[in-house]
Amino acid sequence: MSGPVDDRSGRSGRPRHVAIIMDGNGRWAKKRLLPRIAGHRAGAEALRRTIRAAGQLGIEVLTLYAFSSENWRRPASEIADLMGLLRHYIRAEIAEIAEAGIRLRIIGDYRRFEPDVVTLIDDAVMRTAGNSGTTLVIALNYGAQDEIVRAVRAIAAEGLDPAAIDVDTIGARLDTADLPPLDLLIRTSGERRLSNFLLWQAAYAELLFVDTLWPDFDAAALTAAVNDFVTRERRYGGL
Ligand code: FPP
Repeated sequence: MSGPVDDRSGRSGRPRHVAIIMDGNGRWAKKRLLPRIAGHRAGAEALRRTIRAAGQLGIEVLTLYAFSSENWRRPASEIADLMGLLRHYIRAEIAEIAEAGIRLRIIGDYRRFEPDVVTLIDDAVMRTAGNSGTTLVIALNYGAQDEIVRAVRAIAAEGLDPAAIDVDTIGARLDTADLPPLDLLIRTSGERRLSNFLLWQAAYAELLFVDTLWPDFDAAALTAAVNDFVTRERRYGGL
């Protein structure tokens, strides 16, 4: 079995790949006696700010949990609101994203969304495919256990010799194949769970839980997270 590679960012290295569980939109709205959708709209603004800040901080890959495979359990009206916001967001932002040299990628089983949303997403991914700036990975209808199940099914379908299956065999069939290893995973809003996000990829990631509600997250918060990361010593099971 292959061990961790030596070129991962160690102490004082900057994180190449940062992921965020954007949590707390509902509580942000509740505190202001606003409907939940107002929290999601404010969350979309935080998303814009954070994408811009990631580019300025030289983060190569920013992966964001926008819709989990468990979010279907929310009331239909909230799911419709989130889909409406996603449509609006892609239409409104894609020109600026493409212009900024950002490459958009999706992880998760997003083809289960409404056909017009799938088309919008596919067009946006295609339009930015040739860009070489920050890679923006949006997790849509994503669940890490589902991702691993899909990878294992692919391996079974290929009829591989069980003895030949190692960590890389699985990694290469995950939605994140060919992305750099995850360095830093942030969750906002004070919750301390991974909630089925990047379970495989988080094996050696540094975890950071901040109390900030997602709509309040900004460039200063991302900079603070990066500064926290660089003070940590990563040992990957060694000494
Ligand atoms: C968590 O807040 C957030 C989400 C479930 C969705 C994330 C959505 C955005 C950041 C808005 C932009 C969205 C798109 C699709 C472009 P929560 O509702 O779980 O908050 P709570 O835990 O306080 O209720």
